[in-house]
Amino acid sequence: MSRAQVSDFDCMVEELQRLVIENARAHYSPQVIEEWYHPQNIGRMSEPDASAAVRGWCGDTMEIYLKVDNGVIAEVTFMTDGCGPSVACGSMVTSMARGLPLDEAQQISPDDLLQALGGLPEESVHCAQLAASTLYKAIVGYRNEEGGRDTVIVERESPLVH
Ligand code: FES
Repeated sequence: MSRAQVSDFDCMVEELQRLVIENARAHYSPQVIEEWYHPQNIGRMSEPDASAAVRGWCGDTMEIYLKVDNGVIAEVTFMTDGCGPSVACGSMVTSMARGLPLDEAQQISPDDLLQALGGLPEESVHCAQLAASTLYKAIVGYRNEEGGRDTVIVERESPLVH
């Protein structure tokens, strides 16, 4: 590819990115866009105290990893192969959970998440349910001891766990 072709290609990619972001801004709140494009706490943890992986009915998976210190969530990360809103939800749910006692973190609901994100379009509400459910399952796994490490739970039927 010549230098001019590379430059044309770069321009095309830039324009495409601009259109994608513009389209996202038309459908999602500023909070969702921020968490989607600059996610917090993303990545797998090598030695978590607990983890859960939940597959939503859409076929996408959310993973959440926890480190717990004295009953408080000291570190929490997520990974997803899902859509942009699922990245935003993973980012937000982990930010909300960090520093909370397990009891309180376990109460974080899809509605709490939706509120913190300034809402999601109807077709993306299940992404918040997937993130909240995965956090819930990781905490339950931690409490059940035997499932505390490397818990893998696959859900196919319903996105709503609690
Ligand atoms: Fe599957 Fe968003 S569409 S998590």
